Amino acid sequence: MRIDTLSLPDNLKERYRSSGITELYPPQAECVQRGMLDGKNLLVAIPTASGKTLIAEMAMHTHIARGGKCLYIVPLKALASEKSDEFAGKGVRVGIATGDFDRRDDTLGRNDIIVATSEKVDSLLRNSARWISEVTLLVIDEIHLIDSENRGPTLEMVIAKMRCRNPSMQVIGLSATIGNPRLLAGWLEAELVTSTWRPVDLRQGVFFNDRIRFREGDRPVKHVSKNYEDLNLCLDTITEGGQCLVFVSSRKNAEAFAKRAAGAIKSDLPELKGYAEQLNASAETEMGKTLAACVEKGAAFHHAGLSREERRIVEEGFRKGFIKSISSTPTLAAGLNLPARRVIIRDYRRFSAGEGMLPIPVGEYQQMAGRAGRPRLDPYGEAVLIAKDEQDVGTLFAEYIEAEAEDVHSKIAEPAALYTHVLSLIASGFAGTRGELATFMNRSFYSHEHRQSRLMQRAVDSALKFLVSEEMVMEVGEHLGSTEVGSLVSRLYIDPRSAAIIIGTLRHREEYSDAGLLQLICGTPDMPRLYVRNADREVLDRMIEAHEDELWIPMPADDDELESYYRAIKTAMLLSDWADEMPDARICERYGVGPGDVYGMVESVNWLLHATAELSRMFLPTFHPRIRDYEICMKNGIRRELLPLVKLRGIGRVRARRLFNNALTSPEAVRAAGIEAVTRIIGKGIAEQIFSQLEGTRKRQEEPLPSTTSHGTKPKKQAHKAGQSTFSHFG
Ligand SMILES: Nc1ncnc2c1ncn2[C@@H]1O[C@H](COP(=O)(O)OP(=O)(O)OP(=O)(O)O)[C@@H](O)[C@H]1O
Ligand SMILES: [Mg+2]
Repeated sequence: MRIDTLSLPDNLKERYRSSGITELYPPQAECVQRGMLDGKNLLVAIPTASGKTLIAEMAMHTHIARGGKCLYIVPLKALASEKSDEFAGKGVRVGIATGDFDRRDDTLGRNDIIVATSEKVDSLLRNSARWISEVTLLVIDEIHLIDSENRGPTLEMVIAKMRCRNPSMQVIGLSATIGNPRLLAGWLEAELVTSTWRPVDLRQGVFFNDRIRFREGDRPVKHVSKNYEDLNLCLDTITEGGQCLVFVSSRKNAEAFAKRAAGAIKSDLPELKGYAEQLNASAETEMGKTLAACVEKGAAFHHAGLSREERRIVEEGFRKGFIKSISSTPTLAAGLNLPARRVIIRDYRRFSAGEGMLPIPVGEYQQMAGRAGRPRLDPYGEAVLIAKDEQDVGTLFAEYIEAEAEDVHSKIAEPAALYTHVLSLIASGFAGTRGELATFMNRSFYSHEHRQSRLMQRAVDSALKFLVSEEMVMEVGEHLGSTEVGSLVSRLYIDPRSAAIIIGTLRHREEYSDAGLLQLICGTPDMPRLYVRNADREVLDRMIEAHEDELWIPMPADDDELESYYRAIKTAMLLSDWADEMPDARICERYGVGPGDVYGMVESVNWLLHATAELSRMFLPTFHPRIRDYEICMKNGIRRELLPLVKLRGIGRVRARRLFNNALTSPEAVRAAGIEAVTRIIGKGIAEQIFSQLEGTRKRQEEPLPSTTSHGTKPKKQAHKAGQSTFSHFG
């Protein structure tokens, strides 16, 4: 089917033509034939790389041309930016919704296409973003994630809520890996499009004994390294001019592989030198330096411990063809378009807490394999598993290559999933009685899947009981309504169980302490926590003893709860070190984590600090200013004494400390010192920028300085006394 024969907006056709896309791929043509451009719901279950994004884009432009608005849901921020870059620059306004959870983001509504994660959409629904009701097309990319235990329930509820709010909205679900697409299509009242067609040939095989066994025949692999066959497999494709992605089970393995690959590739391209310099300039940790050294030779690793900048550089270097191999944990797997001719799935077992090493699901194998052989990037793709022995070859063929992706199942009846969703249904007006709640839940994928929904009913009832007992929901006669605190908790987008823990503690506190506050927050179910090794316990015990008076939660008597107690303390300790201006490198070394982990933990604790500050307004207003200040300290990684300085734009933890140590402790002192003195401390460009800010402030006289907080609060009273107690000061 030729694109110029379709009834699509002319500018889009022109864009496609100029980038060489003239014919629809067969499954894309089928979507059109099945009514995609006429508003029909679709579930598109077709292989990786078969052009699902273009399908969604054609539908989106059709809506926009008729004055509609489109919401495109993705699982990850990385995918959100790849997709919004792809949609942008084609005559439509594209917005990307990430960031704070309790905002309505009304300005986002000016866009024609909004790309967002499901959690963000859920929070927008809870905060009554007006433009949500204007959405005429909902696209859900990687819709098989409805099956994910952590995130699936939110995705399912978001789809159900959006359909309830906008009944005439078109829905398009996309995935390459659904075992039971018919069932999901039934729930979405969607036409089902399936296919096995792939634009680029993807050969799948198993490597053993210096040969890759493909269904199409064997391929010998040159024996370059004596000890590392995975390296030989990688070099084999690089020698032919391809690039290679290697999936391994742990960060350590990813780093070890990259070192080996770098030693073998030994590239000396000037571009790589440039990337290595960029990486080195910001590398504070050993990991960062290792990455720079590997990249300089043409290999890289990729995992969640990398900082954003490190990831960006690695991805760019690979996309541009300079970096020849990336070894990665599955962070790179879903949906990304990368020029990998060969994907090696080296570790098909992965550690799972409490269960040991488990084989990865078929769907996940297919997602990884599908990164190879992307259209316009490679002439063909190869996905290779590595067998341990001859027998393993057959098993891997049967269990992965010939196997179908798993069925997807609703995870909404999991007991922990429903507290937050039941509260939000009541607080956002989707249900005002038990009957309405049941009616709504009857439209869930779970109810579509299970005729008998007693399990779910029980989970709903127990969530409701909890919410009533915590006074977040009131039941009067047959009416259900959220209380003031219930509505706030729903808008803050925290788990009601976290809120109950926070409120329960705040109610009984008299003395404020940063350590106690952190301990409290790190003990809630919303906070990701560090693992505790036996060797850590001694340090943690000393710490607990030294800070006994400041901690808010006593040590549990029950042994089963002890692990979780220690984990909260260790996490709180890391965050306390961060707010105590400990350099990134030392934090990473002390806790055995990467900069990306620190960033993720700081992001989570900030969201919870913000929520706690809001809750304290209601339950303990005297704590509110201190919690708000600590939120700013945590955001910037600074002690309280630097608070006045970070209110200046462009001043973060490092520059503020430099100014402070040079006796410039406030914006007033900075102004009085004059631009030359400040230039000597922090450099010319930034000094000029600050003085123009200060000048603007002076002209506006009464107006407050720009604030670094999200709510533009007035500058706080002077900082609290220096030398605040932190977790690290002990023993
Ligand atoms: N009709 C077409 N002609 C030429 N190229 C196309 C066509 N449709 C899509 N492509 C190209 O195919 C590539 C892969 O598409 P896309 O990212 O949409 O894959 P996908 O189906 O979403 O895969 P995955 O399941 O891995 O996410 C893109 O680079 C896109 O530009
Ligand atoms: Mg895709």
